[in-house]
Amino acid sequence: MVRIVETSVRDGQQSLFATRMTTEEAVELCRLYDEAGFHAIEMWGGATFDACLRFLNEDPWERLREIKKVCKKTKLQMLFRGQNILGYRHYSDDVVDMFCKKSIENGIDIIRVFDALNDMRNLKQAVESTKKYGGECQIALSYTTSPVHTIDYYLSLAEEAKEMGADSLCIKDMAGVLLAKDAIQLVSTLKKRIDLPLELHSHCTAGVSEMTYEAAIKAGVDIVDTSLSPLSNGTAQPSTQALVMSLRGTEYDTGIDIHVLHRAEPVMTRIVNKYTENGLLGPKSLQTNPNILNYQVPGGMLSNMIKQLSDQGAMDRYEDVLVEIPKVRKDLGYPPLVTPMSQMVGTQAVLNALNGERYKMCTREVRDYLHGKYGKAPSVIDEEVRKKIIGDDEVITCRPADLLKPEFEGLKKKYQDIAKSDEDVLSLALFEQVAADFLKRKYQQEETETDSFEMYI
Ligand code: CO
Repeated sequence: MVRIVETSVRDGQQSLFATRMTTEEAVELCRLYDEAGFHAIEMWGGATFDACLRFLNEDPWERLREIKKVCKKTKLQMLFRGQNILGYRHYSDDVVDMFCKKSIENGIDIIRVFDALNDMRNLKQAVESTKKYGGECQIALSYTTSPVHTIDYYLSLAEEAKEMGADSLCIKDMAGVLLAKDAIQLVSTLKKRIDLPLELHSHCTAGVSEMTYEAAIKAGVDIVDTSLSPLSNGTAQPSTQALVMSLRGTEYDTGIDIHVLHRAEPVMTRIVNKYTENGLLGPKSLQTNPNILNYQVPGGMLSNMIKQLSDQGAMDRYEDVLVEIPKVRKDLGYPPLVTPMSQMVGTQAVLNALNGERYKMCTREVRDYLHGKYGKAPSVIDEEVRKKIIGDDEVITCRPADLLKPEFEGLKKKYQDIAKSDEDVLSLALFEQVAADFLKRKYQQEETETDSFEMYI
């Protein structure tokens, strides 16, 4: 039997229409999903938290509580980036701890964590705290291809993850570059050597992931991530219905109630139509993109780069930038191209190609990375490149968060006027200005509502 994690309410909508699904829509779907028999519903974390505050004027914590109310049978799952949580820098351990505590208290059952560099030290606090508060912790290994990303490399990472206390493992193929033949090797090795449930997460961006899922399932993977059609394929996950039907009656039968999927489908169609009509879901995200396999570049990173180039009127340099990407990656020690590394490598490739001199300019993030502030690179960083950018500066070799002082109490005090709960303080810790604006609006609005109600009485 293969179990399914339904991703449409988190990764599906994040991949296809910029995470703009409203809480009302998410709740409507999750209410139906709860009856289907999924292993879990991935519905929080990733970009959903930021998008709620920044674009939807919604409280992400309320979304979690509302979904929990309608999901009595199925586990709720979230994703976050280890010590970065959902933001773009490293947070202190006390913030990570409080975030795990409050996520679990408000309804999360499974926390999937990953680190862009696969530096397991960046996951240590998240794993410890998830377990401390009774959550199930899944460690995801960021999948990429490079001379150092071998089967042995992933096997030793998986061993480390198990020792740290992971309850399950996930192969996280964010770019959708895992090929069926490689999946067979990777999955069968991990299943043979590591006694933990193994999940596969991929994207259809390059058009190979359904073949990969089939191969991985036959090689023994326990759980796969899919997204309800029509919110599937393209830059999102393979279709839930397609997989359920294909495996039906075989030894891998998912046990999902297809009548429930039939009931959910028109709801999803209505939602997808809305985002197609308002232009957020464009045909480009649904096209198979062969460049991803050639250049190992995730879809989101390509569209960012195209935007950077066209903003500068330099679309004629597109090919030069594509060629530059693997070189920058090699110079930086082969980081997997996932947030925030994909942005760093992409921007650097654009700068190198447009400036006529490599590393003449670089971003603050790349400097920080070279100083060791994001953790340990998977392979050696080119010394000449490092010298050119940061000279003889000292490079951190400890776990970056060891250098951070506790932050939570300070933030709580700073925002005592607008934060009414620890959840509010966490929103402020992650997205300070955006959350401050949101909370001011939220509580002001509530006060006005109470006033008018009192007047009415
Ligand atoms: Co994903």
